Amino acid sequence: MSVTLPARGLPHEEILDRLKDLREGDADWREGRVFSLVYHASDEHSELIKKAHNLFFSENGLNPMAFKSLRRMEAEVVRMSASMLHGGPHTVGTMTSGGTESILLAVKAARDRAKAKNKKLVRPNIVVPETVHVAFDKAGHYFGCEVRFAKLDASMRVDVADMASLIDANTVLLVGSAPQYPHGVVDPIEKIASLAQKNAIPCHVDACIGGFFLPWAERLGYPLPLWDFRVPGVTSISADIHKFGYAPKGASVLVYRDMDHLKHQFFVSTDWPGGIYASPTVAGTRPGGAIAGAWAALMAMGENGYVDHVDRAMKAAARLAEGIEATGKLELVAKPDMCIVSFKAKADTGLDVFALADRLEDRDWLVDRQQNPNCIHCTVTSNHESRIEDYLEDLRSAIAYLEAHPDHETRGNAAMYGMIAKVPFRGMVRQSVMDVMEKLYGPRAAEPGFDPMSADDEGLVMRLVKSYGGRALSVLDRVEKLRERLSPGGKKRRRAVT
Ligand SMILES: Cc1ncc(COP(=O)(O)O)c(C=O)c1O
Repeated sequence: MSVTLPARGLPHEEILDRLKDLREGDADWREGRVFSLVYHASDEHSELIKKAHNLFFSENGLNPMAFKSLRRMEAEVVRMSASMLHGGPHTVGTMTSGGTESILLAVKAARDRAKAKNKKLVRPNIVVPETVHVAFDKAGHYFGCEVRFAKLDASMRVDVADMASLIDANTVLLVGSAPQYPHGVVDPIEKIASLAQKNAIPCHVDACIGGFFLPWAERLGYPLPLWDFRVPGVTSISADIHKFGYAPKGASVLVYRDMDHLKHQFFVSTDWPGGIYASPTVAGTRPGGAIAGAWAALMAMGENGYVDHVDRAMKAAARLAEGIEATGKLELVAKPDMCIVSFKAKADTGLDVFALADRLEDRDWLVDRQQNPNCIHCTVTSNHESRIEDYLEDLRSAIAYLEAHPDHETRGNAAMYGMIAKVPFRGMVRQSVMDVMEKLYGPRAAEPGFDPMSADDEGLVMRLVKSYGGRALSVLDRVEKLRERLSPGGKKRRRAVT
């Protein structure tokens, strides 16, 4: 089937109808059935930020002299964020398109700052917690920095002594998360930053998910360690406005203690035939809509709006955690510092948490599966308030079903995810994922109903599941136990990157 441009443009009504039809199979975030990806404050708030976005949808932040409005709004967003994060008069920063771009730039700036100080630096590395967001792996990959992963303690926070052991003369950045995405705990930022200071290395705090949340949780009296610019030694912080800042997608802020760090983020070319070119971030064209939408979101929420949403999300998360623990069969992976609830099956129950995930998906919940350990992740927002009891009810009936049908666990998705988490040969898993990516972005991707995971397109891992089902999983279980016996507590340090 070939998809080509229509020879004549279609009537606008028809286009809008087709767009609505295309949405049919999408995840139902409005009804609170999605626990990540979308942060929805209210329909009223969304209407406002859509209007703000549309007002500036043609403007381009690439040239701040042409669009002074965007320059002004970006500067105000940075200043408001800096004050929320307890920055000082010298705190500076830029907006970016999202958490990943903020992280890429934080790593690039640290690398270039270190290179400016030490011309002989050829193999830079960054030291991060094992749970740090995968965007740091991407940054290492893009910018030629080795990523060294420090192990965790039992609370899933990074072990700072292990971080210290990984530092050498080529270390250009230490990182901690506030909080980390997988389990919602804040790393010991004061200790990390002090280690960074002792070694004269910058320290970045990834507060992409917590930046617009934790300040208000603190105001509500939730016990939290210090993690922002009040901590001496913290040199930069990333905070996503398109998450708990309730801005339209495409808005994050990256803030530095002072210009000595930010200046290494900039790119300037003086010799291009197209003219002298200066750019503060990765993007060339910078969409005005995202900047105006973020500015409008901050203005509309104000401190009281954020405090209210944080209060509601924290209470909903507490209720979810309580209901999960009350099942007696499940437990939280860690005690979270914010509204992120990740749970796993208790060891003695024989329950497969991925089989549980399949059952929840049958009931139209979008489930975020995690590994090391296998668990289900829920980023709870104020939009989930009225959904928690339904979710818990479906969870309880899923447990009852699985207990009545123990064979269920080794089939379908549960087997695939179980296998993916356990396969010791990560290259094989990587190849399977690459196969899916090539199909997703391949020439058949526009075919109606095309499913890159479907039977005739399945990868190696799925074929193994089909052929060996439960047997393959139990072999992998044995391999895992053997590895644990040979090297107790031993764990793979490195994360595999393309
Ligand atoms: C802690 C953390 N860092 C970085 C990111 C990446 O953000 P984005 O998806 O906007 O690139 C996320 C996303 O959830 C996150 O939770």
